[in-house]
Amino acid sequence: MAESFHTVSVADGSRSPNPSATADGTDKNSRLKAVLKTWKVYFQWQVLVTGGAGYIGSVTVELLRSSGEVPIVLDNLSRGHQEAVSPDVKFYQGDIADRELVLQIARENEIDACIHFAAYAYVGESVENPAIYFENNATKAAVLFGSLIEADVRRIVFSSTCATYGEPKQIPISEDHSQWPANPYGWSKLFVEQILSSYDKAYDLKFVALRYFKRGWCSRKSRRTSRS
Ligand SMILES: NC(=O)c1ccc[n+]([C@@H]2O[C@H](COP(=O)([O-])OP(=O)(O)OC[C@H]3O[C@@H](n4cnc5c(N)ncnc54)[C@H](O)[C@@H]3O)[C@@H](O)[C@H]2O)c1
Repeated sequence: MAESFHTVSVADGSRSPNPSATADGTDKNSRLKAVLKTWKVYFQWQVLVTGGAGYIGSVTVELLRSSGEVPIVLDNLSRGHQEAVSPDVKFYQGDIADRELVLQIARENEIDACIHFAAYAYVGESVENPAIYFENNATKAAVLFGSLIEADVRRIVFSSTCATYGEPKQIPISEDHSQWPANPYGWSKLFVEQILSSYDKAYDLKFVALRYFKRGWCSRKSRRTSRS
């Protein structure tokens, strides 16, 4: 997996005993933390959230806003709901494969990063109709990443899936467990991880792939609850 761009580990100086304490009693990590916090006042992250009108995306948009960041949503509403996105959030209705639209979004906003949720996400449907999964999830993702690189957006959080692991060889499944999906949905996501990995080496596109299992939450604002 590519290098994470999260600042969490950079700012985490809360170890004990503290290896970075200096002779005069000051703590380099604490000072770094303070500087990063100060920067935060001036530098909000503008984050393009694809699929931001969907189930996980819409709650992520709320969480970004409550953390002081600026989410910008791109969703074609094929499976999402515009009312799940606050009217205060910039919303672009369109497809992730619409290169002109993505470049326009990048021109109109200073995008720092993209959280990529937009995809079809049903295992059963992917078995019955794999073509739409490979096209929407993998092919269109490649087009999106190409547009983002053209716009010089090189930080991506990719909403992958535990389905990339396939049948587990051991439980619990560790992050470095072999990946051999058992269905087209899982393959479509694994292809995207491979695309990102190649683009990291070739184009310096940094990414993290979240291979999560069951997710569940309830958003007070949207009143949506887990369907796991
Ligand atoms: N729901 C889960 O349990 C789960 C678990 C692991 C990973 N994921 C992944 O997380 C992501 C979000 O899942 P979800 O449950 O919120 O799905 P969802 O269907 O609720 O949301 C997906 C959103 O993407 C939009 N979309 C789809 N194709 C698009 C395209 N080509 N262009 C623009 N917008 C498009 C849809 O309109 C929808 O709003 C998916 O990538 C899914 O594979 C989901």
